Amino acid sequence: MQLTVVGTGYVGLVTGTCFAEMGHHVTCVDIDAKKVVQLEQGIIPIHEPGLEPMVKANFAEGRLKFTTSLANAMLDSNIYFIAVGTPPGEDGSADLQHVLGVAREIGRHLEQYAVIVDKSTVPVGTADKVRAAVADELAQRGVDIPFDVVSNPEFLKEGAAIEDFMKPDRIVIGAESDQAAELMGRLYASFNRSYDRTIFMGIRDAEMTKYAANAMLATKISFINEIATLCDRLDVDVENVRRGIGSDQRIGFHFIYPGCGYGGSCFPKDVKALVHTAEENNLQPTLLHAVEARNQAQRRVLYDKIVSRFGADLSGKTFAIWGLAFKPGTDDMREASAEVLIRLLVEAGAKVRAYDPVAMEVARKLFPADWVADGRMTLVDHQYAALEQADALALVTEWKPFRSPDFIAMKKMMARPVIFDGRNQYHPPEVVEAGFEYFGIGRRG
Ligand SMILES: NC(=O)c1ccc[n+]([C@@H]2O[C@H](COP(=O)([O-])OP(=O)(O)OC[C@H]3O[C@@H](n4cnc5c(N)ncnc54)[C@H](O)[C@@H]3O)[C@@H](O)[C@H]2O)c1
Repeated sequence: MQLTVVGTGYVGLVTGTCFAEMGHHVTCVDIDAKKVVQLEQGIIPIHEPGLEPMVKANFAEGRLKFTTSLANAMLDSNIYFIAVGTPPGEDGSADLQHVLGVAREIGRHLEQYAVIVDKSTVPVGTADKVRAAVADELAQRGVDIPFDVVSNPEFLKEGAAIEDFMKPDRIVIGAESDQAAELMGRLYASFNRSYDRTIFMGIRDAEMTKYAANAMLATKISFINEIATLCDRLDVDVENVRRGIGSDQRIGFHFIYPGCGYGGSCFPKDVKALVHTAEENNLQPTLLHAVEARNQAQRRVLYDKIVSRFGADLSGKTFAIWGLAFKPGTDDMREASAEVLIRLLVEAGAKVRAYDPVAMEVARKLFPADWVADGRMTLVDHQYAALEQADALALVTEWKPFRSPDFIAMKKMMARPVIFDGRNQYHPPEVVEAGFEYFGIGRRG
């Protein structure tokens, strides 16, 4: 099939590339001309395992193209994926200006029957707005071209996006015309070889499914974080509690790891957007408010523990930070807990020495240049270099190379042997035996 994917971010680029890998012809459109030129040169703007060779191979074989012109891309496709960003507006609602802008542009150029697919995460009712925007443009042109709007939310995880897209747990398709449902079913058939994972439903149901999924995952994280906070006060080890409850199959082990808060481009904004939708519909979303409030507190938890140990004035102190990305496997620092911690530390007078296996360039652009210039923040090129003369180490992102470090060597490098383990990666007795003070999240140190 001939496909157009509008927006070549984490979702659009992975979507387009994976469809091309399955033999479809895909044109990826982005308004960011620099990104398009880079992609044509085989330079991938994001870190996503397995993506680069797949982009290069499909581009070389002519199945994957990049352009800034949606009008040109539309000459021969009849399925359009809208995969642009839906950032939070000031009131927390999903900002639909990019999605509706793309819908209007499709309407300005549509020449034959097409299926327009909302791949972006969008609130219930957005498909109606997309349909109205396209119809309005067609009416202005005085033409009557049939089209369908479909909701096909994306569930990939950054850091495992290719794997998730190629072997999805489920493919959710909200469609209300047989023609659109049939076309989407055929498009995804090659991802369903061993068994059919497609769940067809109404468009509004599909839109809600995505928010409900992310809100549920965020709720699990905030729940265990609250339990961990209580464990801290009661001298209980949350790691034992986690194992104790996770073994109950009704609860399960996924997403009940205590830590220093969830981040990224999805959970925070999607929980906010769902809160907004609920309030707009006269429902007080008490549970979702609590999920958010716990996460806000959790993103400060390492800072609060540092202040309890060192006092509020941190001038003259140096902190090593391991991990900057919002989670392992990505260079994405949107809403990353490391950013919250670093800003609080520097504001309290501390110096920071930070390392991440892939997010260093992103971090360099994110923090004020003068912090780097005057030494408030040093971005180092190795995890152990971060430890030089540090008063403490804070582990924020659980990258694999941080899991089993050489504690004996670390102790010699640091000014003081203190570890704040923001992801409960270490076994406290081992760390204490190596001579460290240990502070985990709800752990007995
Ligand atoms: N990142 C994830 O893990 C993930 C997972 C599932 C769903 N989602 C959802 O998918 C959507 C996209 O997320 P993302 O992380 O890929 O965003 P992103 O910010 O990485 O990428 C969006 C891209 O769209 C481009 N764009 C914006 N307006 C455009 C326009 N008018 N025409 C062409 N291109 C345009 C931008 O230049 C950018 O490259 C969001 O709604 C998000 O919530 C994201």
